[in-house]
Amino acid sequence: MHDTNNIVFLNGQFLPASEAKISPMDRGFLFGDGIYEVVPSYNGKLVGFGLHIERMQSGLNAIGINLDMTISDWRNIATKLMETNGKGNLGLYFHVSRGTDVKRFHAYPEHIQPTVFAYAFEIPAATTADKQGVKQYKVTSTEDLRWKRCQIKSTSLLGNVMHFQQGQDAGVQETILFNQHNELTEASACNVFMVKNNVVLTPPLDNQILPGITRHMLLNILRKDGTLQVQERALSMSEVRAADELWITSSSKEIAPVVELDGQPVGNGKVGDIWQKAQSLYSANKYLY
Ligand code: PDD
Repeated sequence: MHDTNNIVFLNGQFLPASEAKISPMDRGFLFGDGIYEVVPSYNGKLVGFGLHIERMQSGLNAIGINLDMTISDWRNIATKLMETNGKGNLGLYFHVSRGTDVKRFHAYPEHIQPTVFAYAFEIPAATTADKQGVKQYKVTSTEDLRWKRCQIKSTSLLGNVMHFQQGQDAGVQETILFNQHNELTEASACNVFMVKNNVVLTPPLDNQILPGITRHMLLNILRKDGTLQVQERALSMSEVRAADELWITSSSKEIAPVVELDGQPVGNGKVGDIWQKAQSLYSANKYLY
């Protein structure tokens, strides 16, 4: 897949990425005024598609963007992008900005058309519940310095980008975040789960975290299975540091085991048994959503 020859979708048309142009007066460019989604697909099969489109719609509603597109319009775009970009393991990126204005003015302009962009990019192969083969993550932690509307999947990602970069600068792959009360929120591009005494724990949904689709599906799958106890509640930094297992979840990673936090081993420093159980249930059920 060669990036500039990729076929992308922009405002109703499919065209090579190199020919897709937007105005510098687009409010997505000037203000980060938009909503986005990333939907994973494996060999043409989409994961959690309806849930992703619902979340995008609620984000658009929250910021007052009226978009005249149905779930089947989005599905048609996804299908075409998968056909033209060779199926495989693809993330589908959907982006709606408020549109292009004639001037830079903060208030929402009336009568402008949203800019709609979509493209496909390669993601890692689906995770398998293999303790030896799975990619192991190391993370650092820091105070969550983003805004108080993290439930909105906004294209204004500078806060997340800066936190992600902190991890990169420390030589690890993610940064997990704690609020000013030392409670876990999420990571810069993932939700976070921990395990203690065989109980699976994750922070509850509120304005401090993105309502992750992987998180939602995993909680649902675990509750239906019923073997493991699951709790959504506030988690203190000391609880996280004493966790038996730590996981980060996102559309492109599924459930990723974390073996090191701030230079210290998580639990015994190895990928855990509960991770294996959770990832295997997730793999078996993820196409049902
Ligand atoms: N990241 N929290 C944040 C801040 C995220 O950016 C993401 C996703 C998640 C996990 O959500 P989901 O399970 O719906 O992917 C949680 C995407 C993949 C990204 O920005 O590329």
